Amino acid sequence: MVKFTDIKGFIFDLDGVVTDTSRYHAKAWGQLADKLGVDYPGLGDAVKGISRMDALEMILKKGGLENNYSEAEKEALAAEKNANYVNLIQNMSAKDILPGMADFLAELKDKGYGISLASASKNAPTILEKIGLSDYFTKAVDPATLKYGKPDPEIFIKGAQLLDLMPAQCIGLEDAAAGIAGINAAGETSVGIGDPELLHDATINFTDTSQVSLANIEKAMQ
Ligand code: BG6
Ligand code: MG
Repeated sequence: MVKFTDIKGFIFDLDGVVTDTSRYHAKAWGQLADKLGVDYPGLGDAVKGISRMDALEMILKKGGLENNYSEAEKEALAAEKNANYVNLIQNMSAKDILPGMADFLAELKDKGYGISLASASKNAPTILEKIGLSDYFTKAVDPATLKYGKPDPEIFIKGAQLLDLMPAQCIGLEDAAAGIAGINAAGETSVGIGDPELLHDATINFTDTSQVSLANIEKAMQ
């Protein structure tokens, strides 16, 4: 394993790591799946980290509907999900920052670590603004520039480039199995936050965000 002293930067997923928006994504996709008549147990976990259009394709496939819609109709379905989602995040504020994450970001900034954002969400800038953390994430990968979604490593490689660091100098934090796969494939150290069974490929596991601190990461890397 990479040594803790080699680590110079942290690359953050947003939904489910910095703030608890995963339940809103799950709810909005659930509403669309119901409308399409698709029964999808475990939908909330399955769409974690997955881009909007890829998530829609997963749902259509689950219902055997992948050939039933034109590209324009798929765009309309994705836009409908997003409208539902945007509605759900309207009242977000600093109270929606997950436990310990504001302190962790402050600690990283204070100690001079690089910080970048690797979120697949096109709503990330709006959410960061609402929860008051935009200033920490001046370096953010624009998901519109990506060729591939998670689990591809592209977003995490770009997250390291934004910090002028090599992947091996970076830690990526994720709540999604697809994200952990992307971090590992990028050659970075992965921190999985959530169910350790679901995130069994992570280098380091924490069951929730309140455990995430430099001291605990250092301990886990010894
Ligand atoms: C990820 C979420 O962060 O962003 C996924 O985990 C979501 O569930 C993806 O589908 C894309 O988000 P958006 O806001 O661009 O539809
Ligand atoms: Mg996430």
